[in-house]
Amino acid sequence: MKAIILPEFGKKNLQLTTIPDPKKPGAGEVLIQYKAASLNYRDTLVIAGKYNPKFPRPIIPCSDGAGIVLEVGSDVTEFRPGDRVMSTFAPYWIDGNAENWELRTTLGAPLPGTLREYATLPASGLVHRPDYLSDIEAATLRCAAVTAWSSLVRLGGIKSGDWVVVQGTGGVSLFALQIAKMHGAKVILTTSDSAKQSKALKMGADEIINYKETPSWGKRVREITNKRGADHIIEVGGAGTLQESVKAVRSFGNIHLIGVLGGGQGEFEFLPVVMNQVRMQGVVVGPRNSFIEMNRAFAAHETRPVVDKVFSWNDFRESLDYLKSGSHFGKVVVRLD
Ligand SMILES: NC(=O)c1ccc[n+]([C@@H]2O[C@H](COP(=O)([O-])OP(=O)(O)OC[C@H]3O[C@@H](n4cnc5c(N)ncnc54)[C@H](OP(=O)(O)O)[C@@H]3O)[C@@H](O)[C@H]2O)c1
Repeated sequence: MKAIILPEFGKKNLQLTTIPDPKKPGAGEVLIQYKAASLNYRDTLVIAGKYNPKFPRPIIPCSDGAGIVLEVGSDVTEFRPGDRVMSTFAPYWIDGNAENWELRTTLGAPLPGTLREYATLPASGLVHRPDYLSDIEAATLRCAAVTAWSSLVRLGGIKSGDWVVVQGTGGVSLFALQIAKMHGAKVILTTSDSAKQSKALKMGADEIINYKETPSWGKRVREITNKRGADHIIEVGGAGTLQESVKAVRSFGNIHLIGVLGGGQGEFEFLPVVMNQVRMQGVVVGPRNSFIEMNRAFAAHETRPVVDKVFSWNDFRESLDYLKSGSHFGKVVVRLD
């Protein structure tokens, strides 16, 4: 079968090649054909060897994908050949709090990722795709959307009327915008790109702050919310944004620690977090049942992922460059059929 493999760390080492087909599905397993995969910032870090330099090589990159069931093992009742499915990031994390091994056993390293034609996966590593979505759209959901869902809904208990700050216009943030609006919340979106502002407003953002023109955007969030502060911050900037997030969040509010686009280390003033009883919660995607719960909500609202650009097998390297450039609005996808 066709696959993209990474024999050694470094983008230049990526190869489009042929590898043996996966084994026939045994008990509890399902053979699928991938139709599309989507990129996440994590994939760029994995390929560069910065996510975990100990990951065994070769790696098949990418953790998100959608496709069709070809064959099921003898005791599989949840799936049938022909079903449209999405694979899950951590195929053994079903619900609640994961054990360490369940949290770390993930597609796109250390397990083989989604840039391959076929995969035999445990049935627990798949969910049904809502009918209204295409394979391209469905491939975008697993990491970015479920992370936003876990933050705001599963862990954050978002309520109608809450104020949510989403940082930037990447995958996680636009899904957070859609989920927040679905729950009747108000959204302040920060962006560095004035051309992306109108698109964000069309999606329902209530207020926009250009974080390049207004580096003290935390103060501006306070003004917008009548000094109260935001109930939720979707923190994807990490060290580059956290201090402003602490200024922007209300007392007893939530900072969902998700990403490190602006750096993973830095100085930090702890006192305001203590004095305002701010809840800072690390988030790693979420379990299979959260994915299923989110898909039900997305189907009820016919929520469509924002797909910015679709690449093919041959231009996978270009798709990584495009993601790293930050010029995308939403998700970047690779078509695999
Ligand atoms: N913890 C988890 O489970 C989990 C899951 C998914 C992703 N993540 C992490 O979350 C982060 C975002 O992921 P993603 O897939 O949404 O990324 P992405 O699609 O690549 O997002 C890129 C966008 O983020 C904005 N941005 C970049 N640097 C920024 C900064 N310093 N401050 C504020 N905004 C900035 C820019 O938006 P504008 O052009 O509009 O300025 C940029 O276009 C990454 O660090 C990723 O590794 C974590």
